[in-house]
Amino acid sequence: MLFMIRSTVKELFSANRLNEDVILKGWVRTKRGNKRVAFIAVNDGTIIHSIQVVADAEKFPEDLLKDITTGCSIKVKGKLVESMGKGQKVEIHANELEVIGACDPEVYPLQKKGHSFEFLREIAHLRFRTNTFGAVFRIRHAISYAIHKYFNDKGFFYLHTPIITASDAEGAGAMFRVTTLDLDDIPRKENRDIDFSKDFFGRSTNLTVSGQLEGELGALALSSVYTFGPTFRAENSNTPRHVAEFWMIEPEMAFHDINDNMDLAEDFLKYLVKYALENCMDDLEFLNSMIDKELLDRLHFVLKNEFVRMGYTEAVKVLRESGHTFEFPVEWGLDLQAEHERYLVEKKYKKPVILTDYPAEIKSFYMKQNDDNKTVRAMDVLFPKIGEIIGGSQREEDYNKLLNRMREMNIPEKELWWYLETRKFGTVEHSGFGLGFERLLMFITGMVNIRDVIPFPRTPKNAEF
Ligand code: 4AD
Ligand code: MG
Repeated sequence: MLFMIRSTVKELFSANRLNEDVILKGWVRTKRGNKRVAFIAVNDGTIIHSIQVVADAEKFPEDLLKDITTGCSIKVKGKLVESMGKGQKVEIHANELEVIGACDPEVYPLQKKGHSFEFLREIAHLRFRTNTFGAVFRIRHAISYAIHKYFNDKGFFYLHTPIITASDAEGAGAMFRVTTLDLDDIPRKENRDIDFSKDFFGRSTNLTVSGQLEGELGALALSSVYTFGPTFRAENSNTPRHVAEFWMIEPEMAFHDINDNMDLAEDFLKYLVKYALENCMDDLEFLNSMIDKELLDRLHFVLKNEFVRMGYTEAVKVLRESGHTFEFPVEWGLDLQAEHERYLVEKKYKKPVILTDYPAEIKSFYMKQNDDNKTVRAMDVLFPKIGEIIGGSQREEDYNKLLNRMREMNIPEKELWWYLETRKFGTVEHSGFGLGFERLLMFITGMVNIRDVIPFPRTPKNAEF
């Protein structure tokens, strides 16, 4: 007989292999049957569906069939045949069966009954084996790929910006310190300050909150770049939309103003949603039926509709005149809260909204200043169910304006000398934004807690796995 290689469940369902002998390896989801025959559902994670293995009791020792329990891994050799059962095209009639790794059903935490997402977070090492998390992480992969494909096709260059950074100037959030100093014996200067000259880099360093500032340096030579990497924020905010370690996609484009920036953001988001619909339908259908019955409608809806574009000032007016009672105050100059953003998107316009021209006081120092001397060319993209999914802006390219703003906001200009220099040497109009990858995945999968779209979430008091 010919040497046989293992087939995946995905291959068996898609390739025309009927009546061939095949080898399958995977994990048992369920086993049912009677004295004469066992029906074993085997899943190997390659697609959401499990394949049914039919084992005639007379062909196998009784003990072997007994050892095949939920959670164990098995190897099956048999013939792929058309299935009589409902809901599946093909099944395997087993001729050889082998338990690869046993699984004691008495202690295996994943039982057939549904588990809460809270419980599954406590067994994050095993939750990949559920249909829901299999679907979520296959989609996470597909969208990562689509992001690179989108930018590559548009001539952007993928730039790797540093994870460890000495600048804590962006002000995007509280930072995690990186140090090799001995915490039991911290070197001090005469005035008792910590002597960071003794630290690994000879200065104080942190984990990055954003790759933007370095991304700008790249864009001001390569025209269009993007980063896609982990970022870290030490805020103590325990919400369903925040994690301390998240992945961000940050395109940065020379010769782009805020309108070009908005066009790109809208096109990019629609491309990714479309990619999911075209490439992840099995998983999306499962999530639509089990998690959120409106998921597919919402995805199609975002594709079909133009995003609303409006200024912050107008949004404040709309919110104040809405007659709606909000928990947090709405006043020109205050930042918008999630409840305000979601009102605009879900109640008022029922479409994604891009808000621009925020008060300078609530935005970062690098945003381009408007002529009104009050607002900056910021843009936030707000999505249904999520709120802010993208934050970005046109950047201040004028050296003097940027320097003044840094001084006003107490941004250490000495530390950011390299950032300022790009405005001295051939400065140009440029723009960019940051898309929170997990927020996007929440939107695409319908999962309502950000902890359930990243394999191992990092949140306050939680870093188990
Ligand atoms: O609005 P943010 O803070 O923008 C920046 O960091 C800019 N430097 C981006 C740029 O212009 N290149 O963050 C961007 C996005 C947010 O809109 C949100 O989707 C996500 O990152 N985000 C978080 N996601 C999960 N957990 C957190 N703690 C997040 N903080 C921000
Ligand atoms: Mg923001």
